[in-house]
Amino acid sequence: MTHDDSATLEVLCCCDPPEVLDPAAYRDAAVTEALTEVTARPAAQQPPWPHPFEVDAVEAELSELPGLTTEDEVDDLARAMALVARGDALVLQGGDCAERFHEAVPDLVRRKVDYLQGLAAMMRAATGLPSVAVGRLAGQYGKPRSSPYEPAPTGGRMAAYCGDGVNAPEAEPARRVPDPRRLRTAYDCARAVLREVRRASRGKPLMERVHVAHELLLMPYERPLVRAGVRGPFSASTHFGWIGERTRDLGGAHVALAAAVRNPVGVKIGPTAAPDDVVALTLALNPDGVPGKLCLITRYGAADVDRSLPEVARAVARRGAPAVWVCDPMHGNGIKVGDVKTRLVEDMLTEVSSFVRVLTELRLRPSGLHLELTPDPVTECVSSQEAEPLFADYRSTCDPRLNPEQSVAVIAHFLDRIS
Ligand code: PEP
Ligand code: CO
Repeated sequence: MTHDDSATLEVLCCCDPPEVLDPAAYRDAAVTEALTEVTARPAAQQPPWPHPFEVDAVEAELSELPGLTTEDEVDDLARAMALVARGDALVLQGGDCAERFHEAVPDLVRRKVDYLQGLAAMMRAATGLPSVAVGRLAGQYGKPRSSPYEPAPTGGRMAAYCGDGVNAPEAEPARRVPDPRRLRTAYDCARAVLREVRRASRGKPLMERVHVAHELLLMPYERPLVRAGVRGPFSASTHFGWIGERTRDLGGAHVALAAAVRNPVGVKIGPTAAPDDVVALTLALNPDGVPGKLCLITRYGAADVDRSLPEVARAVARRGAPAVWVCDPMHGNGIKVGDVKTRLVEDMLTEVSSFVRVLTELRLRPSGLHLELTPDPVTECVSSQEAEPLFADYRSTCDPRLNPEQSVAVIAHFLDRIS
């Protein structure tokens, strides 16, 4: 090499783009690419925000705030869920149907966390297996609705309550107008809840911690909280996120969002999910076949499990990606008594029995429960033994929850069936 050649080389080195991309730039590009795909797809169940530019401003604001969860926490849950997938642990997902902003205070959060940990301990005591406790906590502020409007008390119609992250539950048309500033409040409340969840888990071994989860529903909240991790994009809005029964369209934005993040995710499966659709969902949401990455949360309703689950479970076992099977015996069993939304505990027990039986017959593993529950002694769900339920203590602004006695009955029933 002559002196001149080396000079030429030096010049080339300075001007050529580096061969290896800066990892940080690459990871940001991965997030951008994922979000481009999410944004390009139709998103079902988004509230009728009155002024879209206000929502865009909140989304931009959230994108500049710190993520709520960390990649390490998300990966810790992934490790715990891998144990569930292997049959070395069970999973208990539970909490309010809709969290309330004013409940994001330390004492109330601590009560919920301790309660969930107590139920997980009960599962461990009965089976010898640890239970991964996942609270519907720190972000369960958006609700999908069967009907976007409902009759207003003064005549005409008003928007349905879509969770505290969107509007207020009071039956007044003005309070029901979706307000995007509530998305920012949702972030602040989720942060306060997480602080308490972490405090309760501090110093505890992985299998004794409580993790948080919510439905990945509201795009202007979820998109800006997708963050670049060292190991790939993750949702910093939660540890575990699920896709609801109404938003699990394979070509929709919610599936793209859940597919883009490394968090463990779930998808609710109800009676209208065809076997091929569920197989396709497992492949989209767990393309690398990672054990514990994906939960299929079945919510058929007591009458439908035996008819619908066998074919779906068989198809997933044969052609799908690995999935952890979780039973939500709540959402397929809603009934009305007068004007009150409730659920019969007996229907839930029937659904749990059928879930365990169908999966066991197919040599698949019933791995846990997804419940709406509260430590408070509410009277929201009822027993068919009650001649005329009074609903004397009905506090939920959305779906009826199990009180402690009812929760223990449903969990004990599950444990009895799997043993
Ligand atoms: C929920 O979990 O509160 C819910 C709305 O569930 P699903 O999507 O199964 O109806
Ligand atoms: Co609910």
